[in-house]
Formats: sequence, C-alpha cells, structure tokens
Amino acid sequence: MNKILAFNWKMNPENKEKVLELLTNVQIALNQVSTNEIIILAPDIYLGLIDNFKQEKSIYFDLGVQDISSQEKGAYTGQISASMVESMNYIYTLIGHSETRIYQKYTLEDISLKFGLSLQYNLNPIICLGYQEDKTIQEIDYDLLKQELIFIFEKNKSLINNQRIIIAYEPIWAIGTGVTPNANIIETVTIYIKRVLVEILGISLAQKIEILYGGSVNSSNIKNFKYIQELDGFLIGGASVIPEEIPKLTQEISDI
Ligand code: PGA
Repeated sequence: MNKILAFNWKMNPENKEKVLELLTNVQIALNQVSTNEIIILAPDIYLGLIDNFKQEKSIYFDLGVQDISSQEKGAYTGQISASMVESMNYIYTLIGHSETRIYQKYTLEDISLKFGLSLQYNLNPIICLGYQEDKTIQEIDYDLLKQELIFIFEKNKSLINNQRIIIAYEPIWAIGTGVTPNANIIETVTIYIKRVLVEILGISLAQKIEILYGGSVNSSNIKNFKYIQELDGFLIGGASVIPEEIPKLTQEISDI
C-alpha cells in the first residue's frame, strides 16, 4: 500500500544551504524506495530553488504552498492567490492549518473561501481539521469535526470534479508537542470523517477524498500508525525538517 508523506516545512529551514541539505536527503530517500509519494509544502520563497534541484537531479516529488489567499485577486500585500499557484504548477496547497487559524486569525469562512478558490483553480487542497480554541482538551470533538466538514464542503461541492482532495486530521494538542493520539483513536476519527463526507457528498465523491493524520509524527512513532488501513498517509512538520529523518520516514512506510 502506498501512503502519502506530506511534509509541512512551516517557516523552515532558515537558509537556502539547509534547504539543499533537506533536498539531498529527499533524494537519498527517493533512491532507496521507489513507491513512496512525497509532497513538500515549502515556504513560497524556496519553491524555485526546489524546482531547480528536482530538474538538476532528475527526481520527482510534488510541491505545494502552505496557504493561499481567501481573495481571488487584488491589493492584499504579502499574500498569494490560487491562480498564481496554478500558473506556476505547484498544484498542492494546505488550507486551514491550526497555526494559520491562531496567528493569522483565519476563520472557518476564510477556510471555506480558500477551499472554493483552490477547486476553482484546479489545485489539490489539503484541508486541516482538528483546530479547537482550548489546546488542553484532548477529547475528540466529533460534533465540531462534523460542523466544520459541513461548513467547508456544502457550499463548495458543486466545484468538485477531478481535483485531488486531501483532509489532514491534526488535533491541535498533538502539533509540535510530541504527544499523539493512539492508533485506535486515529482510525476511529478517520472512519468518522469518511462517513460524514459520504453524508455530505455521496459515496462516489466521498470515496476519492484521502485522509492523513498529522501531529508529532516521526520515524519512531510512525510504526504505530502506518498499518491503519483507512489512513492514506501523514502530514509531518518538525520531523520533515530534520535531514536524517527523511530517509527513515520513507523507509518505514515502504514495507507496508
Ligand atoms: P508536527 O507538525 O509534525 O511538528 O507536529 C505537524 C503540522 O503542523 O502539520
């Protein structure tokens, strides 16, 4: 089974030399195993550098951005639009990551607008769920997950055609903390999300949507989660910017 590894580099690494070091390790990883799918969500400023590296080394992985504007175009200093991402062929975008909900104060309405624009411009959105205001509560709020899915998908479902749509379940208390839910919980939430998607979209659209788990995944604990059948892969932050972790992560999921 082929699992997706989506690397969310966040605001890392701090300079281009370190980008090249990470990419060298991606190259090592891809040379070791041929079947894994890697998507790198890099800071926008590094995308050209990464493209050049891919071409020079003749290696292939997907590349995307960590956010797009909720506005189609206009005077929005510092933002990038869905149409810009499409025109540069970067294809993937994260949407609604908890850190953007906290630091940029993005609302569910913003997330729904971004999702709509990503579909309109044929991007493949990776929608993050699992945000809640109180970071200390570790109980899974199934009602909140359902409300968010309904809010995001109901309005936009007519725009879905052949885009690849991915949902990343990332409980906020697991992001960057070293704490994760256990495999049973991740499996239960994944199945729940799939069921709600069937209710909203019908079986044929819903079954094409892939689900990732994210939050403190690394090359040691991925062993606990990699056999979850329903799960299509992982969204990895911290471990994806540690050079030696990259080949270890791909190695781990190559034997599933
Ligand atoms: P983490 O981040 O792997 O460092 O917990 C995951 C994410 O924020 O996407």
